[in-house]
Order: sequence, then C-alpha cells, then structure tokens
Amino acid sequence: MEYKIAPSILSADFGHFARDIQTLEAAGAEWAHIDIMDGHFVDNLTFGAGVVAALRPHSNLFFDCHLMVEHPEKYIEPLAKAGADSMSIHAEATPHLHGTLQQIKNAGMKASVVINPGTPVEFIKPVLSMVDMVLVMSVNPGFGGQKFIPETMEKVAELSEIRSERQLNFDIEVDGGISDLTIETAKKAGANVFVAGSFVFNGDVTENIYKLKEKLK
Ligand code: DX5
Ligand code: ZN
Repeated sequence: MEYKIAPSILSADFGHFARDIQTLEAAGAEWAHIDIMDGHFVDNLTFGAGVVAALRPHSNLFFDCHLMVEHPEKYIEPLAKAGADSMSIHAEATPHLHGTLQQIKNAGMKASVVINPGTPVEFIKPVLSMVDMVLVMSVNPGFGGQKFIPETMEKVAELSEIRSERQLNFDIEVDGGISDLTIETAKKAGANVFVAGSFVFNGDVTENIYKLKEKLK
C-alpha cells in the first residue's frame, strides 16, 4: 500500500485555512484531513460543507473528510457538491452503516468507516468488503493534541490480517497522537495513511511533514 500523510486542518489557523492548506500541498502532503464535528457526537464544533466548498478552489489535495457527527447521511449530498473526495463515517454514529456507506459511494466519493478506541473490529466486519478505507482512531475523537493510545494498534494489525485473508484492498488510516515518535508504531502495525494535526502545525509545517515522511522510508 502507498503511504500517505494527511495533515488535519483542525490544528491550522482558522482565520487562514486557504493559506495553510496551500502550505501543506507545497510541503508534499498527499491528503488534507478535514475534521467535521457537530457538537453532539463529540463535544467540539468545527465546520461543515461550506468551508470544504470554500477551500476546494484553493487546493488539489485529496479532501479526506472525517465526520464526527450524528446523522452522517445528512452530510453526503452537501459534501459531494462541495468537492469532498472521501467521507469517513463513525460506525458508532449510525444504525444504518451499510446503507450510508453505499449512499456515499453512489454520490461519487470514497467511502470509509471509522472506529473509536473502544469499538472492536468485529463491529465493522460486515462492511469491510465495501469500503475504500478503515480509519482506526488512536485517540478518542473531539480534540487535537491528545496522547496516542498504543492498544488501538492491535486493531490495525487485525484489520491488516483480515485484508490479506479476504484479499481486500482498503487503506488503513490512523488518527490521533501521530508524531515522528508514534508514526513508526502505526506503520509497523499495518497502517498506510497517517493523520497528524498538532505535530504538523506546531512549528515549521514543511519541516514537520518532512520528519514524518522520513520515518516512512
Ligand atoms: C480528533 C481528530 C483528529 C485530530 C488529530 O478528533 O479526528 O483528526 O485533528 O489531532 P492530533 O494529531 O493533534 O492528535
Ligand atoms: Zn480526524
């Protein structure tokens, strides 16, 4: 699988999203991770399809939208219209997981399923053959700057095993507490897409992305 760095704009300057997203692209990031939070599924509130649409003309990056919301199905049409490339929905957020993933695909976006640190892989086994990606949260969702939970990497390894057993080809993304110190652990477990927010935006963005990439060589 191809390695990708997906910096999270949750740690960018909210007054300068366009500028910051261009810095990410120039620094060689492959994806932009966009954390959409509704203040209900998690205790934090960020932005929605309007901001995604406003950013679209400023960037060619793959827009990896992570939905920490209730009723994720309501966001499918607006995000597809806004130019989102991928939508990751939490398995814990909907009783209609299979149907909602199918709707995302029908809308022309990549469909991805997310599990919180307390949710087992077992819970998403029925949808693994239909997803483009599985996102394993390595912190509890809601805020940037939290500590990496190493136990979640057991689930990354389990998913990687299931993927080869069943000859599937979804990406495995990790999100939360990823830095130049933890990225190798996630890589060894089998992840290939790495979200990083505070590590990337704390200090020199270009240098920090370079440091992460070095660890993937
Ligand atoms: C947390 C978000 C993450 C967050 C990661 O709920 O889903 O994408 O931006 O931030 P760091 O890398 O600082 O843990
Ligand atoms: Zn995220």
